[in-house]
Amino acid sequence: MTPKIAVLPAQVADQIAAGEVVERPASVVKELVENALDAGARTVRVAIETGGKTLIRVSDDGEGMSREDAELALARHATSKIRGAADLIGVGTFGFRGEALPAIASVSRFELETSPDGRSGARVRLVGGKGMAVEDAVRQRGTTVTVRALFFNTPARRKFLRAQQTETRAVVEALTVLALARPDVAFTLESDDRVLLDVGPAERPIDRVHELWGRELADTLLPIGHREGPLDVRGFAQRPAQAKPAGRKGYVFVRGRPIRDPFILRSGEAGYRSTIAPGDRPTLILFLDLPGDAVDVNVHPTKLEVRFRDKFFVERVVEQAVRGALGPLAAAAPLGVGGPWAGLGAVIPGATAQELFPATSLTPDARHLTPPLLQVFDTYILFQTDTAVAIVDQHSAHERVLYETVMHQLSGDGAPAQRLLLPLTLDFSPAELEAVDAHGELLRRVGYEIEPFSGRSIVVHTAPNPHPRFDATRCLQELVADLAGGRFGGLPNRLERFAASFACRAAIKAGQRLEQDEMRELVVRVLGATLPAHDVHGRPTIVQLPKDELERRFGRA
Ligand SMILES: Nc1ncnc2c1ncn2[C@@H]1O[C@H](COP(=O)(O)OP(=O)(O)OP(=O)(O)O)[C@@H](O)[C@H]1O
Ligand SMILES: [Mg+2]
Repeated sequence: MTPKIAVLPAQVADQIAAGEVVERPASVVKELVENALDAGARTVRVAIETGGKTLIRVSDDGEGMSREDAELALARHATSKIRGAADLIGVGTFGFRGEALPAIASVSRFELETSPDGRSGARVRLVGGKGMAVEDAVRQRGTTVTVRALFFNTPARRKFLRAQQTETRAVVEALTVLALARPDVAFTLESDDRVLLDVGPAERPIDRVHELWGRELADTLLPIGHREGPLDVRGFAQRPAQAKPAGRKGYVFVRGRPIRDPFILRSGEAGYRSTIAPGDRPTLILFLDLPGDAVDVNVHPTKLEVRFRDKFFVERVVEQAVRGALGPLAAAAPLGVGGPWAGLGAVIPGATAQELFPATSLTPDARHLTPPLLQVFDTYILFQTDTAVAIVDQHSAHERVLYETVMHQLSGDGAPAQRLLLPLTLDFSPAELEAVDAHGELLRRVGYEIEPFSGRSIVVHTAPNPHPRFDATRCLQELVADLAGGRFGGLPNRLERFAASFACRAAIKAGQRLEQDEMRELVVRVLGATLPAHDVHGRPTIVQLPKDELERRFGRA
């Protein structure tokens, strides 16, 4: 009997590998550019025609290959990057499987020209992975790979290619990611003779961000710099005020390798807590660095995923890193340049993420407040700083300060409460009573000590006292209605929902006339907090009108 099992011919095996590695022109570009970077290229040039369907060419000025190595490079599992499984731990190159070139060659008309020294060199050609032709060739040091007629011999795959524009966009994206990973390398991309990307070597990551997307985006970013134990997190987080529901950029790099990890991005977003409106997605660019043995990079066919030894640790530290970047923030003035505290000392007016890299801390100084404070429309408090007129929304700002305080109290011993001389009796609906029951401990921590009474009534023995105009009854009724109605559902956890609701209900209301000393106390507290520029609903807490702007408008500057 003939055996049922046969070893596949090498070329078929290559085509199967190609199915995993080479999905579309962008994946070819990714593999070839990664090879160029692994070869130490300082400049990488990419050209495509018809979205890469007819031609992809990647040229580099890296270390090149000898004729012998060039032939070997096309053999399966031939790699110069590792020698054994042990080398996989902490592998520092993009490639390590020795799979990409044979896989690409098996589904295209493939040509590789290379020279290690500018004197000797070789040209290797294959068609559909077959009939290798090798000849001597002279060229500058470096390598050029040309891939024509991708998937010409696998019509099924060719059919899956999308419109030229879509494939082009995917190529741009693939190159953008690698350009972010390596700001020190110059990249160009030509598509049917149009230049789509042209970035020179940059000194700092923010310069590369600037080159790729312009100053407008770069200026909305705050630098991240945070280390905990073995994990180092750097990168950029968008100021909360500029986060939008669509069109954000989210990139994660682990040990210099771009990966796709929605969980890490989500942890980064969690760092924003309630400073952004539910549904808003901030741009996040995260560079994670940790020892090689803390992460396995060999778990995905195109190496787009990695496995962390301790994923939860990584997620937690990323969240903290982003929170830390926003903490000293006070930035995000929705109006004008610089942070709202620009006149209060620590922040240089007009400072952008560039100057603030690495994160500086901000210590606003309320002594710089120039009296008097002016309340307008019974809602906004105006005051002057060294460089601007600042306008605080009394409700939003107070709510924000309370939120931070309450979050603190909820995780600690709780707030000081006032015993009521005459206990309050309040009636609630069954759903509300259930909410009171479910949140008894949290209510106690913010200062409400509650006991069931009879039927649908409860008795309140103690109440919080966050400010002199606080209405304990109304606050509790509204808070309980929020909890029963599932309001603030956009916030990630129960504690935050509770804190947001309490802060909103307990804060000084809009439309409330305030005395000078009340305003002063509020403003001092607002300035003393590391206050995000948004309240728990995502509305601004403070805007500023810079002096520069006034001078410009009145024609003084
Ligand atoms: N542009 C280049 N410059 C110099 N050497 C190269 C270049 N491209 C490929 N090589 C050599 O050819 C070998 C095979 O490349 P290939 O991309 O197939 O595998 P790899 O990069 O080692 O691993 P992976 O399959 O994970 O990408 C590389 O290990 C490298 O030695
Ligand atoms: Mg490779």
